[in-house]
Amino acid sequence: MPQHRRIDADGHPTVAELEDSIRTNQPSSIGLLAVERKAVRDVIGYCGLIDGGRGAGGEPELAFELLRRVWGQGYATEASLAVLDWARSSGYERLWATVWEWNTASRRVLAKVGFTETERKEVDAVYGTTLFTTRRL
Ligand SMILES: CC(C)(COP(=O)(O)OP(=O)(O)OC[C@H]1O[C@@H](n2cnc3c(N)ncnc32)[C@H](O)[C@@H]1OP(=O)(O)O)[C@@H](O)C(=O)NCCC(=O)NCCS
Repeated sequence: MPQHRRIDADGHPTVAELEDSIRTNQPSSIGLLAVERKAVRDVIGYCGLIDGGRGAGGEPELAFELLRRVWGQGYATEASLAVLDWARSSGYERLWATVWEWNTASRRVLAKVGFTETERKEVDAVYGTTLFTTRRL
């Protein structure tokens, strides 16, 4: 993961800091939501919409990240479909998602929920190429 996504040498952000940030930034029509399993009632990650700074015309980006122990059970796909419904009901007409070219699992999730890859790419010599994908709602 790029440096800005890592826990720093002093242990920040801590779980408490992340919890505080989530609680004080309640989503309206944009934001990250906790993914909670209905049967177990545990939180297994986040999925939601982030401000599409890189997307055209202020359209939001879909983002998701789940705990490793729950990967491969369709949860990211299910959560993304729920977020697509939310985005549609909020009036957005199109979403974007950026993904590392090497991130096969994430690219597969995006394909399963209807995102298509565009011509747009950003190449980083250290971390690899970022692909820009989009989906009409
Ligand atoms: C990406 C991520 C959210 C996927 O979550 P998940 O719940 O495992 O996703 P799903 O189970 O819904 O779907 C994963 C798909 O990728 C496929 N897949 C996973 N790893 C794969 C690999 N190495 N090669 C090929 N396919 C792979 C799975 O088979 C599945 O596709 P299928 O349904 O056609 O079989 C999870 O891996 C994660 O949190 N990764 C770290 C954070 C991250 O990369 N976030 C996205 C940033 S763009």
